[in-house]
Amino acid sequence: MALHIIDHPLIRHKLGLLRKEATSTSEFRMLTKEIARMLTYEATKFMPTAKKTVKSWAGPVEVDTLTGKMVTIVPILRAGIGLMDGVLDMIPGAKISLLGLYRNEETLEPVEYYQKLATSIDKRIAFILDPMLATGGSMNAAIDILKKNGCETLYAITLVAAPEGVKAVFDKHPDVEIFSAALDSHLNENGYIIPGLGDAGDRLFGTK
Ligand code: PRP
Ligand code: URA
Repeated sequence: MALHIIDHPLIRHKLGLLRKEATSTSEFRMLTKEIARMLTYEATKFMPTAKKTVKSWAGPVEVDTLTGKMVTIVPILRAGIGLMDGVLDMIPGAKISLLGLYRNEETLEPVEYYQKLATSIDKRIAFILDPMLATGGSMNAAIDILKKNGCETLYAITLVAAPEGVKAVFDKHPDVEIFSAALDSHLNENGYIIPGLGDAGDRLFGTK
C-alpha cells in the first residue's frame, strides 16, 4: 500500500492551469487527458516484462514484452471519463469497466446507479479512474464492487487527493496503490477539496 504523488514539472504546470477558475471546459478536458497519460506512465512501472526473440531487419533480436495480468480501466462516472482517453493512449488494449456513482450532496455518501464490468474481471489488474479523491466514499465503493467481483490487484489514479480520502481508502483497503498528481490540504464543510479543482464533473462536462 502506498500513496504515490507524481512530482514532475509538466504535471505541476498543468495542474496549476487546471486550478485556474478561468480555464475553459475544453482546456480542462485536454489538461486532464494529458496528466492522465503521465500518471499512467508512472502507475504502470511495476508491470512485468519477459524476453522474447523477434525477427528484426538485422536478424533475430531479443526484446522485452509485457506479461502478467490483463488490464481493465474503471472510470467512475461521470468525472472519471475525463481521465479515460489519456489512460487508453498508454494502454490501448485495456478493457473498460464502468461504474456509475454519485455523491449524495447532503450525506456525502456514494450512490451507485450503473455497473458494467469487463469480462474475466477477476483475472485483471484494475486502474480505477476518478479525478477527485475527497472523502474517499466513492473510491471505497468502487473498490468494494471490484473486490466483490474477484478483482485482486487495484490501482487508483486521481488528479487531486485529500488527506481525509487517502486515510479512508487505506483504512478500508490497505492493499490498494494510489497515484495522484497532488495531495491537497483538506476538505471544506461541504466535502470539497481545498484548494482542489472545484466540481471536476461540472468542469469537464461544462454543466456549470
Ligand atoms: C465527484 C468525484 C468523485 C467524488 C469524490 O463525483 O468525481 O467521484 O465526487 O468524492 P468522495 O471522495 O467524497 O466520494 P460526483 O458525485 O460529483 O459525480 P460526477 O462525477 O457525476 O460529477
Ligand atoms: N467532487 C469534486 O468534483 N470536487 C471535490 O472537491 C470533491 C468532490
